[in-house]
Amino acid sequence: MSNIEARNLEDDVDHVMIDESALQARILELAEQIEKDYADKDNLLLICVLKGGYVFLADLSRALKRPHELDFLGISSYGAGTKSSGAVQIIMDLKTPIEERHVLIVEDIIDSGRTLQYMRRNLLARGPASVRICTLLSKPARREVDVPVDYTGFEIPDEFVVGYGLDFAEEYRNFPYIAVLKPAIFEHIFDL
Ligand code: IMP
Ligand code: MG
Repeated sequence: MSNIEARNLEDDVDHVMIDESALQARILELAEQIEKDYADKDNLLLICVLKGGYVFLADLSRALKRPHELDFLGISSYGAGTKSSGAVQIIMDLKTPIEERHVLIVEDIIDSGRTLQYMRRNLLARGPASVRICTLLSKPARREVDVPVDYTGFEIPDEFVVGYGLDFAEEYRNFPYIAVLKPAIFEHIFDL
């Protein structure tokens, strides 16, 4: 067996910040709140921001008992480092028009706010009935632009986190919890 196959991603974890049961419990609460808020509205469309939002979307969607549809938007705002490049780009667009639909953006984390500000404006320009934002995580200390966030799973300190969809250099997305990596993992990255 090669060294790459023998590598265990969990060896890179310094500590778990939010464990699986806390995540799942909070997602049930968010789903309940969303069901109340959208009780009198048809046409709910969850828009998942790829790639980071895919795990949260899967659990949030399964926690919702009311009808809803899904679509996906691929966005790129980060290089291989841990800081936003500031430039947001749509790399995969929605499959369907969103006119007259109630759009709920499902995002993994809001950091500077630039990604969600761009997405919100972009989607509003397409004539939906409404646009709201649901983010699993928020780092309030890092906010650079004001974006209205309607649902927040957890506010976290200014630390780079991975797992539950969030990556570092495309790895660690598969962890069922939110974790902080060992400092040694970032040593070869110059923009820290
Ligand atoms: P923003 O545009 O600065 O708000 O950045 C939002 C995007 O940056 C998120 O959708 C994530 O993809 C990424 N990001 C921000 N903070 C982290 C983190 O701690 N871990 C992994 N990705 C992050
Ligand atoms: Mg993201």
